[in-house]
Amino acid sequence: MDLKEAIRLRHSVRQYKDEPISEEHVSRLNEIIKQCNTESGLNMQLICNDPECFDVFLAHYGKFENAVNYIALIAKKSIDNREELAGYYGQRIVLEAQMMGLNTCWVAGTYGKKKCKADIADDEQLICVIAIGYGKDQGKPHLSKSIDKFCDMPVDKMPDWFREGVEAAMLAPTAINQQKFKISLVNDEAVIEAKRVPMAKIDLGIVRYNFEVYSSHKTR
Ligand SMILES: Cc1cc2nc3c(=O)[nH]c(=O)nc-3n(C[C@H](O)[C@H](O)[C@H](O)COP(=O)(O)O)c2cc1C
Repeated sequence: MDLKEAIRLRHSVRQYKDEPISEEHVSRLNEIIKQCNTESGLNMQLICNDPECFDVFLAHYGKFENAVNYIALIAKKSIDNREELAGYYGQRIVLEAQMMGLNTCWVAGTYGKKKCKADIADDEQLICVIAIGYGKDQGKPHLSKSIDKFCDMPVDKMPDWFREGVEAAMLAPTAINQQKFKISLVNDEAVIEAKRVPMAKIDLGIVRYNFEVYSSHKTR
């Protein structure tokens, strides 16, 4: 599976097999996380075999099952664009995990923030977590708004790379599937903007990563 396929096949999975993540996968995940932390300045951490973080009423309501592993997305409070960075690098890890045969779910609300076992310094913030494990199934595609809700440009006027990037952005996970972003083509460059709604900055990073990987074009 390559990155493009991972973008198409990834869906949120909340029910996992009662099976620990293999040592090989743990060490590959830790390598990727380390690389992403070095590049971004984030302090993401993989926590395995912790049944408490998702043992909260909200998580049961959201139907999480055997969710005992997660990646905690942590950043220094002094990093201004920390939420967008967490989205961007978190999605890079999510897609790598998908390629390894693991499944994931971004979680900003339905978990016990205070129960998270990651090391978080006083000057740091836990932005959200990503549940990870071997899914009981592969999840299912989310409903999406139509392409004209994201771009003002008619589809037949879009360069191929831009249209493919937008389609990949539409496949990106967003909080409560809100898809509150706009993409425009300005001087041959894709410009992605998030609307001012909760969690939109995390979504923006995720959407940006999907767009860039699929289109092989950097965005602004
Ligand atoms: C920033 C963010 C926060 C999210 N928080 C939660 C959450 O608290 N609980 C939950 O069950 N799903 C959560 N999700 C998962 C979304 O509901 C899911 O990504 C969306 O419905 C699209 O579905 P898909 O991921 O299968 O494409 C979150 C997703 C994102 C991107």
